[in-house]
Amino acid sequence: MNVARKGIILAGGSGTRLYPITQGISKQLLPIFDKPMIYYPISVLMLTGIREIAIITTPDDADQFRRSLGDGSHWGLSFTWIVQERPEGLAQAYLLAEDFLDGAASTMVLGDNIFFGHDLPIVLGNAAAKGQGGTVFGYRVVDPERYGVVDFDSDGRVKSIIEKPKVPPSKYAVTGLYFLDETASERAKSVTKSARGELEIVTLLNMYLADGQLDVAPMGRGFAWLDTGTHGSLLDAGNFVRTLSERQGQQVGCPEEIAFSKGWIDRDALRALGEKFAKNSYGQYILGLLKD
Ligand code: G1P
Repeated sequence: MNVARKGIILAGGSGTRLYPITQGISKQLLPIFDKPMIYYPISVLMLTGIREIAIITTPDDADQFRRSLGDGSHWGLSFTWIVQERPEGLAQAYLLAEDFLDGAASTMVLGDNIFFGHDLPIVLGNAAAKGQGGTVFGYRVVDPERYGVVDFDSDGRVKSIIEKPKVPPSKYAVTGLYFLDETASERAKSVTKSARGELEIVTLLNMYLADGQLDVAPMGRGFAWLDTGTHGSLLDAGNFVRTLSERQGQQVGCPEEIAFSKGWIDRDALRALGEKFAKNSYGQYILGLLKD
């Protein structure tokens, strides 16, 4: 059975590193320049061609998210809301989303991960086209110890992925974008908690790896994988988006534009979306698409 790939956005967590800002609002709803952070991962799933998306939030933040995003139909999407009672690690997402996935392959993206790059749709398309197994992305960073890190053998083959190692075996962090086949939820059931008490995504990925079923694709220097984990990097991400979009007059991570370009919404629907924000440059940009 070939069921369409579905999307998962994990937007849980307490965002303690961004306190006091995130005491009253979810991290993934904070602005990255002109739109909420979660618009960017939603855009990544849309560029992958995914229209059915489960959004996993904390119990406290669920209402805010629904108010901000609705049911997705205005963007030609369908959102399923899943509440994560306790944050017990990224692999838990596959347990919570098992019914939603219902035997489909998935692409999961973390709600605070922002990707940008000229060939991004091609990279996403290649990963989505793979049948069995999974694909994750290795991205060179200066501070790999903050992430899942790729451990290569002397032939450059991936040996394992290690979560936040004190002494990183390489500079390559695994980004928060996971293309996994339909076995992910079943496999996630045998993930046991790590020393820090979490169902680690890297444990699940290492299971795929042990079966020879995981590709770690390089995401090269022409891509931006932006961090939003500190006050400074949050501001930097916003400035990055502002610099690009104001220089080119083209949006970064605009769900309205992607939905229209894919033919998921028509001109009237796009006009209605633009008119909602006609007073600002975001709305004017959307209305401008009607003239292109
Ligand atoms: C999580 C994962 C880590 C991954 C990172 C990407 O870490 O556990 O493997 O590299 O996301 O953003 P977190 O940032 O949630 O601690």
